[in-house]
Amino acid sequence: MNRIIIKAQDGTTRISRHIYGHFSEHLGRCIYGGYWVGNDPEAAAVIPNIRGIRNDVIAALRRINIPNLRWPGGCFADEYHWKDGIGPMEERPRMINTHWGGVTEDNSFGTHEFLDLCELLDCEPYICGNVGSGSVQELSQWVEYCNFDGVSPMADLRRKNGQAGPWGVHFWGIGNESWGCGGNMTAEFYADNYRRYAVYARDYGNSKLYKIACGPSGSDYDWTRVLMEKTQGCGGPPLLNGLSLHYYTVPGEWSCKGSATEFNEAQWYVTMRKAYVTDELIRKHGAIMDEYDPNHRVGLVMDEWGTWYDVEPGTNPGFLYQQNSLRDALVAGIHFNIFNNHAERLFMANIAQTINVLQSVILTEGAKMILTPTYHAFDMYKVHQDAVKLPVYVESETVNRGSEMPLISASASRDERNKLHLSLTNIDSGSEQELRVELRGLDLSPSVKISGTVIGSEHIQDCNTFDDDAKVGIKNFTGTSLDGAALWVSLPPHSLVTLELG
Ligand code: AHR
Repeated sequence: MNRIIIKAQDGTTRISRHIYGHFSEHLGRCIYGGYWVGNDPEAAAVIPNIRGIRNDVIAALRRINIPNLRWPGGCFADEYHWKDGIGPMEERPRMINTHWGGVTEDNSFGTHEFLDLCELLDCEPYICGNVGSGSVQELSQWVEYCNFDGVSPMADLRRKNGQAGPWGVHFWGIGNESWGCGGNMTAEFYADNYRRYAVYARDYGNSKLYKIACGPSGSDYDWTRVLMEKTQGCGGPPLLNGLSLHYYTVPGEWSCKGSATEFNEAQWYVTMRKAYVTDELIRKHGAIMDEYDPNHRVGLVMDEWGTWYDVEPGTNPGFLYQQNSLRDALVAGIHFNIFNNHAERLFMANIAQTINVLQSVILTEGAKMILTPTYHAFDMYKVHQDAVKLPVYVESETVNRGSEMPLISASASRDERNKLHLSLTNIDSGSEQELRVELRGLDLSPSVKISGTVIGSEHIQDCNTFDDDAKVGIKNFTGTSLDGAALWVSLPPHSLVTLELG
């Protein structure tokens, strides 16, 4: 039997809206063609845009309340020199994007364009600095350029380039994957460098920086320990605000990850099992962080997560372009439930990546744009942003495919209008699951208003395409009934459901 108990009056922790964040890199067609057509007069003539940024993309991302956007990488961040991306377009140098396909980067999308995009999206920028091939001075000056309001070389340069006031960028990453593409460093070497870079990334005026150190890859618990150990503040606050974590859901081996759309039931379950690993990672890294930071002053920032498959046949292998199916929506739902349930430690998370790369929420083809099943999962779960997490106890039927895993995952919160939201995933590839929900502290009289939405589709491989863009979407859900003190939910096979009560 499947059973959930929710303590409807017990929540104390707020679910940070930032765990519904995004990541967009100079990679393939994410920035160029995805957001930005400002460097392509032919595209700009047929794709409606504002100052070079696509209107359709802005509108779609605003609908899901995108809270923050991480940029410019990724691996790209550690070879990016921000001064190449400011000033008159025709004077900006070109460079090679060595990580991603060896293509020419024309630097037409730089700091001003990114911060303009964030303003249009009404989201917070999260800039990742270059530690791998940059310098302390370079990062220090980038912060000064963005955030200083007085007279200084960088603030004056910003004004000369058309931006009078500072942007006040709050979130700064000090390097990306410094254990790999960001410099191949040891934890000890990086931690020392973090300390050095962080000193010169200054707070100006009221812009107090939130500094995010490069954290571990997957289950590298030693990295977390070294970083936490070496960034203690000698009695004062810790020297970092956030520690990042990267983990990708890869159904196969890195050399043969599997297709995004052509997969069987066994691969479906492998993918789900690997998505569930995120819970263990957050729990175990969190436990190490607790030893050094029992009061949770340092946030865990899972600033890269998502599925990673083989690229779509015929596309540039360096562009990481993959389709997105109902399977991805389930992976997203599982992550969101895990994230909500770890709200005490998890401060931010960023899907990799927003457009045309890996587990995208948007795919574009010239002037056309489609929303993926993952987009709809973000849309469904936006009700949890900044809501109060409610304790949820889940007893689920399991499936055993290589190892045992629960069929159902869940999370719940109460929003400022006092509405309770319960989100559920059912990974059963073939059967409906009946679920009994006990709501402790909530009177389930027949007059209580219950509504719901569902994301599902006939086949687990179903996708939205440029010919059929509405195969997988959000529909109204009517599979609930009341039985005395309990609420019964009939969860369709391979589906996500969110209920609103109150
Ligand atoms: O998201 C693609 C790449 O994955 C990022 O650039 C890097 O940080 C990670 O390895």
